[in-house]
Amino acid sequence: MKPIKVGLLGIGTVGAGTFAVLKRNQEEIRRRAGRGIEIAIVADLNTDRAKEITGGTVEVVSDANLVVSRPDIDIVIELIGGYGIARELVMKAIANGKHVVTANKALLATHGTEIFLAAQDKGVMVAFEAAVAGGIPIIKALREGLTANHIQWVAGIINGTTNFILSEMRDKGLDFATVLKEAQRLGYAEADPTFDIEGIDAAHKATIMSAIAFGTPVQFDKAYVEGITNLHATDIRYAEQLGYRIKLLGITKRTSQGIELRVHPTLIPMSRLIANVEGAMNAVLVQGDAVGPTLYYGKGAGAEPTASAVIADLVDITRLTGADHTHRVPYLAFQPGAITDTPILPMSEITTSYYLRLRVADKLGVLANVTKILADASISIDAMMQKEPDEGETQTDIILLTHQTQEKNVDSAIAAIESLSTVDGKVTRIRLEHLA
Ligand code: HSE
Repeated sequence: MKPIKVGLLGIGTVGAGTFAVLKRNQEEIRRRAGRGIEIAIVADLNTDRAKEITGGTVEVVSDANLVVSRPDIDIVIELIGGYGIARELVMKAIANGKHVVTANKALLATHGTEIFLAAQDKGVMVAFEAAVAGGIPIIKALREGLTANHIQWVAGIINGTTNFILSEMRDKGLDFATVLKEAQRLGYAEADPTFDIEGIDAAHKATIMSAIAFGTPVQFDKAYVEGITNLHATDIRYAEQLGYRIKLLGITKRTSQGIELRVHPTLIPMSRLIANVEGAMNAVLVQGDAVGPTLYYGKGAGAEPTASAVIADLVDITRLTGADHTHRVPYLAFQPGAITDTPILPMSEITTSYYLRLRVADKLGVLANVTKILADASISIDAMMQKEPDEGETQTDIILLTHQTQEKNVDSAIAAIESLSTVDGKVTRIRLEHLA
């Protein structure tokens, strides 16, 4: 059988990795796919670099439109990133009847509905294993391996940059800004790290996992997004003393009221396997009603780990290109007509536990006032730690861990606590998940 022909848009780190792995493992991949997979054309603005990587074995062009319109191309791999030109090219490729493989989480989290609809109309596949957690086959697991389950929640460390920074802050007791600079120097963080450190990248990935886990449309605009820029080394240390690690988690949960979709720093018990995922590694924990908890761990970025996911998609498409569209695995795991519009809950309606740190005057009755406010807001205290004031200080830190409660209760309790004259400044609030 003739090889399937692929056009590659963007030969940066992941593109070069894809080219290298496809070449190195071509025989094994052909045996699995049933036919060869051949990159026939590459589009990249840096044509010299593209030619160097491909070694003159494929056509290299600077205009990506030539790839998406070329009649002999069956699959287009989009590795450009962003929502602008990438969206245009993906839509054109679909309109021209090409299958699409993309690692572009930002594009799918924001324009996924439009893209999947267009692909459905044209009867082509859009595959995106590389968009979430790089080399970890979490899309495949959620969409196929766990298909028997009523999935209850998914929680993941899905951004390696922030996990690296948090690990370093904990290990070395350094503050965020110092570690960020070091991460940039070592190449772990981008020169402009906004998407990573503000939680946006993780929220794109959580949005995609949520849609697949619960059969809802992709709705990034409804996600709650909080990064790690305001996290203090002090809180990482106090959390450790209480038996918890702080991780930036992407969380999505199904409740009777709707779906929670949120990214924020989170305390998790140190005893959980996922709490021990360190450095730039990723991990995703999925709770299904039949299987219970399952954990997926691996590299969430990098040339060949991400290429591993891109090529898995190429193989899937190659195997299924002749199949009737209705016999293929649906994009979002559920049949297009079975996608429901279960609401994404506003943050005030979510339920979780909390870590609260307050700076208080070391005076009689201060704690009584604080605990009364919590009790009045129906918030039950799970644990408490009061530090002795430092030598010569009249203020001290109180750390409270709460049982589960609604976020709106905590909002009102924090406002009341901050208005006490014996409480100095803002209350630090970090959400806590037992992941049990
Ligand atoms: N920048 C991401 C990370 C990888 O740090 O995990 C690509 O999504």
